[in-house]
Amino acid sequence: MSELHVEELSADTIVAANSLSLKPGQEEFIAPTTYAVAMVVADPQKTWQRVVLDGREVVAFVRAYFDDESPTDYLRAALWRINVDANAQGRGAGRFAVDAVIAEARKRGLSRLTVVYEAGDGGPEAFFRRVGFRPTGESEYGEVVAEIAL
Ligand SMILES: CC(C)(COP(=O)(O)OP(=O)(O)OC[C@H]1O[C@@H](n2cnc3c(N)ncnc32)[C@H](O)[C@@H]1OP(=O)(O)O)[C@@H](O)C(=O)NCCC(=O)NCCS
Repeated sequence: MSELHVEELSADTIVAANSLSLKPGQEEFIAPTTYAVAMVVADPQKTWQRVVLDGREVVAFVRAYFDDESPTDYLRAALWRINVDANAQGRGAGRFAVDAVIAEARKRGLSRLTVVYEAGDGGPEAFFRRVGFRPTGESEYGEVVAEIAL
């Protein structure tokens, strides 16, 4: 990857962001039940969405949610979605996207960033651990809750 950079999701990039592909078997991990349920009542103002570009090509999408009043502690500053295009995976775009979320959370003065994911073969667990998330518990749907202390 030559020149990765992050941009706010915009009218120029939304089609590409929605067209990012997955590798076979990854579909089942992309939207944990916790997030699918939370999404229904999510406040767009609290949603932070960015694309990662390699040069002019959109290679990844990342969504975080910042709601310090959420009754669910692991949803107060959470990485909600990350998707690196199948053809761009394994070259650092995922780590780059997580670093962008961490930078945003730090800018907001937060002390931790959480993620909820499904464990299992073909899923994102090894990636999340590699970039620094440590499991701390389970969601009410039995998914892994993990966090990075900032
Ligand atoms: C999970 C995902 C975001 C990772 O993105 P990526 O661009 O391939 O990851 P990176 O290349 O930035 O990898 C970062 C580190 O994690 C490691 N890593 C990534 N995937 C890994 C895997 N499946 N197994 C072991 N290590 C892995 C890399 O080796 C790298 O380590 P290093 O920096 O020490 O060399 C990507 O595979 C994806 O989009 N998956 C489908 C969607 C999904 O499941 N999203 C999560 C739920 S919302």
